[in-house]
Amino acid sequence: MIGEAKIRVDGPLKVSGGAKYTLEFPLDDSLYAVIVKSSIAKGRITDMDTASVEQMPGVVKVIHPGNALKLKPYPTGGGDALALAPGEPFIPLQDNNVYHVGQHIAIVLAETLEDAQLGASQLKVTYQQEPAALDKEHVLEEFFEPERYNTGEELQHERGDFRQAKNNAEVVVEEEYLVPAENHNPMEPAGTLAIWQGERLTVYDSTQGVDNARNCVAHCFGMKPENVRLLAYYIGGGFGCKGFFWPHTLLAPMAAKIMDRPVRLVLSRKDMYTSMGHRPEVIQKITLASDRNGNITAGEHITYSYTSILGAHYEPCGLTSAKLYAIPNFSMRHRYTQLNYPTPTPMRGPGESNGTFALESALDELAEKLGMDPVALRIRNYAAANPVDGLPYSSNKVRECYRRGAALFGWENRNKLPGKMLKDGQLIGHGMATATYPAYRAGGACRLTLNQDGILTAQTAIQDIGTGTYTVMGQIAADALGIPSSQVNVEIGDSDFPVGPLSGGSMVTASAGSYIQTGAQKLKNDLIDRAVSQQKSPFYGMQKETLSIKEGLLQSRTGVKEPIQNVVQRSGKKEIVVEDSSSVIKGFAFGQEAEYAYQSFGAVFVEVSVDADLGVITIPRIVAVYDLGKIINPKLADSQFYGGIIFGYSMALLEATEFNEKGQIVNHDLAEYHVPVNADINDLTVEVLGEPDYKFSEHGGRGIGEIGAVGVAGAIANAIYNATGKRIRQLPITLDKLM
Ligand code: MOS
Repeated sequence: MIGEAKIRVDGPLKVSGGAKYTLEFPLDDSLYAVIVKSSIAKGRITDMDTASVEQMPGVVKVIHPGNALKLKPYPTGGGDALALAPGEPFIPLQDNNVYHVGQHIAIVLAETLEDAQLGASQLKVTYQQEPAALDKEHVLEEFFEPERYNTGEELQHERGDFRQAKNNAEVVVEEEYLVPAENHNPMEPAGTLAIWQGERLTVYDSTQGVDNARNCVAHCFGMKPENVRLLAYYIGGGFGCKGFFWPHTLLAPMAAKIMDRPVRLVLSRKDMYTSMGHRPEVIQKITLASDRNGNITAGEHITYSYTSILGAHYEPCGLTSAKLYAIPNFSMRHRYTQLNYPTPTPMRGPGESNGTFALESALDELAEKLGMDPVALRIRNYAAANPVDGLPYSSNKVRECYRRGAALFGWENRNKLPGKMLKDGQLIGHGMATATYPAYRAGGACRLTLNQDGILTAQTAIQDIGTGTYTVMGQIAADALGIPSSQVNVEIGDSDFPVGPLSGGSMVTASAGSYIQTGAQKLKNDLIDRAVSQQKSPFYGMQKETLSIKEGLLQSRTGVKEPIQNVVQRSGKKEIVVEDSSSVIKGFAFGQEAEYAYQSFGAVFVEVSVDADLGVITIPRIVAVYDLGKIINPKLADSQFYGGIIFGYSMALLEATEFNEKGQIVNHDLAEYHVPVNADINDLTVEVLGEPDYKFSEHGGRGIGEIGAVGVAGAIANAIYNATGKRIRQLPITLDKLM
């Protein structure tokens, strides 16, 4: 069943409306909560006319810093990175200070959503304003250099002697690239439903991490984690904005406690832009220096970005550059300043998707100066080991990806001189880039229960953010136990289940898939043990090694067969339960001694078509080939690749969050913030090498989610250069930049 292109098990429920999302759970007596956000970037609230709003029809209460519950602050530094991961360690409504536009400053509670929205829009707030730090370029003059990213990787790294190697080099490229701020825009906005029953709290929340969200709620309300149940059965996408824990998830339970009624807190699309992170704008300075033959001898990547006053997110654009190619002399710096913007957070391929736009553009510029083919330049600088720490990659087949991708695309037909390929009056350009993303794996646990009907229920506190987690976990469990996947029932999205990892860092399939696989193997051994020792069993007294389970049947080499549930029935128990867990694998755990570097790779080839007069860009085709271990479900995998590639397309051509001089976002809706529609996307071809990586996970898969978004923006920019001779170093590449 591993490798089968099964349709998603939740598909019928989703298309029929039967899959309930957070805010769809009916509760007759719930109040609606709408957040009031600060309109200023810095200062103090001096007055709030809550009385007038409370007199409005349907409005029952306004909660504000004067009457809010005091919650327990996070431990300094935000807490244990794995057990307690808030997007920012800030708790709203605790005082009158304002640190950014959009900060939550009050909650309006009403009997209907419309009454709450109207009330929130009418609340008059008086501020004492202070000058806010909003100049993103200020970081070029004044910055700090943090030691580590939240994965433990070092953000500042030097090897060899970059300066000297650069001075001795024959060809040098030195350029600056900019990727603007972006917002995640998952289809389903976030929201929270909170219900108190005495000392117990149930929270429905649209999150990429039920376990982390449960822990954060429990911490801030000073509760035992087992008294909080966090549920997220279905999630309409996250892309990172639902990865860590955000303050609005505290406000619903706070309001519900104050009102002694369930509260349904709804974030609007506008609220989403400032309430749960964004990709911060990044300025990147890249230097690549090589000899005449394209051996890159020196590289430098300096990342300039910002974090907020309230939280520390360090967009890590240079991490990939430091390890992707075998460059002996390298300098990587990450520099940030603190500004009065909402806290940034990871967004699909954080650092990788925007960082490789810069790196892969610079490589294309170097190839041009050398008169060398861009694919050949990358192959020449192949790294078999991670140059940062010298650890060999568990597997790095990026050269196979280049070659296979080039063949599929027809790269040999490319004219390397810009502006030379024409078709139907349009300029055609071909460009390529490397895709890469780390392979992460976190620990967790599962409970597997086999009942008297032969149905296996697998429970773990992970969640399906729309990627197909229900389906692939079922395939893995069925495969390991030896039963049809129709006999497996996957139960996730509930923090009461054994602990599971975040759906972040593209790691849930490798992490949870591994312990579900070993758990199912354990259950299989348990069943065989029982079968040979149950006196009424047809297998009684047989050698364990001669028994196996296939298609739901326990069978011996001698030809005896029976359904596995017979073992459960003879056991005299309602069900047989097995638990299993895995810790973080050696080599990934922060600060542990590692044996291998784990990384996935790919190559993206793009054809663009540009209207020379109008600058209109279309992308007729994209071909990508990936090396990321074994594929559990090719159908769902393709969906992930397509989604990622479209994300990269969007970064290249459409997306930018625009702030005005007051720090307000002016395009905070899907009319003004552009994302692609079906009509924008043409041919996408994806191939996977598919060789299992058993050094990394039990099933040999490394994870998919984010890598599809990596490399695409660089490949598109390179193709546009090949079409037009114009090198655009600021995203998005809009037609005004080409005219
Ligand atoms: Mo992701 S940006 O790790 O949800």
